[in-house]
Amino acid sequence: MKILVTGGTGYIGSHTVVELQQSGYEVIIVDNLSNSYKSVVDNIERISGIRPVFEKFDLTDQKKTLDFFQKYSNIKGVIHFAAFKAVGESVQFPLKYYHNNLQSLVNLLNGMEQSKVANIVFSSSCTVYGQPDELPVTEQAPIKKAWSPYGHTKQISEVIIENTSKVNSTKAILLRYFNPIGAHESSLIGELPLGVPNNLVPFITQTAIGIRKELSVFGNDYNTHDGTAIRDYIHVVDLAKAHVIAIDRMINTENKKKIEIFNLGTGNGFSVLDVINSFEKVSGQKLNYNIVDRRPGDVEKVWADTRFANEVLGWKAEKTLDNMMLSAWNWELALKNK
Ligand code: NAD
Ligand code: WQD
Repeated sequence: MKILVTGGTGYIGSHTVVELQQSGYEVIIVDNLSNSYKSVVDNIERISGIRPVFEKFDLTDQKKTLDFFQKYSNIKGVIHFAAFKAVGESVQFPLKYYHNNLQSLVNLLNGMEQSKVANIVFSSSCTVYGQPDELPVTEQAPIKKAWSPYGHTKQISEVIIENTSKVNSTKAILLRYFNPIGAHESSLIGELPLGVPNNLVPFITQTAIGIRKELSVFGNDYNTHDGTAIRDYIHVVDLAKAHVIAIDRMINTENKKKIEIFNLGTGNGFSVLDVINSFEKVSGQKLNYNIVDRRPGDVEKVWADTRFANEVLGWKAEKTLDNMMLSAWNWELALKNK
């Protein structure tokens, strides 16, 4: 059973490739290495014992994308991770984000249609909800106006897939991730942020290891138990496993509708200070941090209602916040020794 994983050398993609291989799938990765490294393919092989096929090209190139689908027949499903994801950068360079994230999706859907590949799992994001009116947020919550071009590309992508499925055989599972963190227990794959990280957890681990001087905590005047903002952090391996279940579901034609949407989170909200406390506990490191102003565009609190994924996919996140922070720290230590 061949599965195409776009963005498969990236953070979430690489963990998903391993889980797919360990479930018996044959994986073909397409990635242009704009935010990842070829060596990830070696590390995937070290973990699973199987080398995935790797094709390096840019999915915004229509010809290369269509040629790819000519070359590989009999692909049973596609998991589409490839996208740019830096929220701040998308505000600065909106066209770069619209071009990359939307053109690559359109090319992929064309290639799938040409080769009669029906099944796609798409990486969406809780960012489509903005600040929800009700918590925990369900899949039925209204889609709010996107604050960033990045978030807007996720909203548009969902609509592109939905509209395409109305006129051809496309079937999709749209997965709205909350905040993926942590790394594989082998410490052979993990998140590799280029430059200064935007996200909380890589910033914490880089500060603790001495790459950054101090962590700025963005705001302690939110309406939360300790004043810092709340998110639903989910271990990347739990997230990866949900993709295998989604692919199984499509291949076994268990999906009831052409488009299904699932929240992927733990259902628990943790504040920035909760995350720092967990990190200090599991790593034994004292973190240098300072409270500063809120970051523009940040929502106060968001966590997932995971009942639909729990009941329909039979999937539940298993790892605790401490598990997540320890694996993130072990990954940072492994990177230092590379
Ligand atoms: P990542 O940057 O680590 O991985 C994305 C991969 O796609 C990279 O390896 C990059 O080189 C590749 N890529 C980008 N544009 C490409 C193109 N045009 N052609 C070929 N390859 C291309 O990101 P990630 O954290 O693994 O995220 C994966 C997906 O999940 C993205 O779609 C992202 O928007 C979405 N998502 C991520 C998060 C998060 O916090 N990490 C949360 C919600 C949703
Ligand atoms: C988490 C919390 C910050 C950094 C982003 C995207 C979202 C999704 C996940 C892709 C917030 C605080 C952070 C720091 C801090 N990605 N923080 N100091 O903003 O919830 O979501 O990643 O779809 O679309 O927006 O994640 O990790 O940046 O922040 O205090 O140096 O940590 O204010 O409360 P966020 P994050």
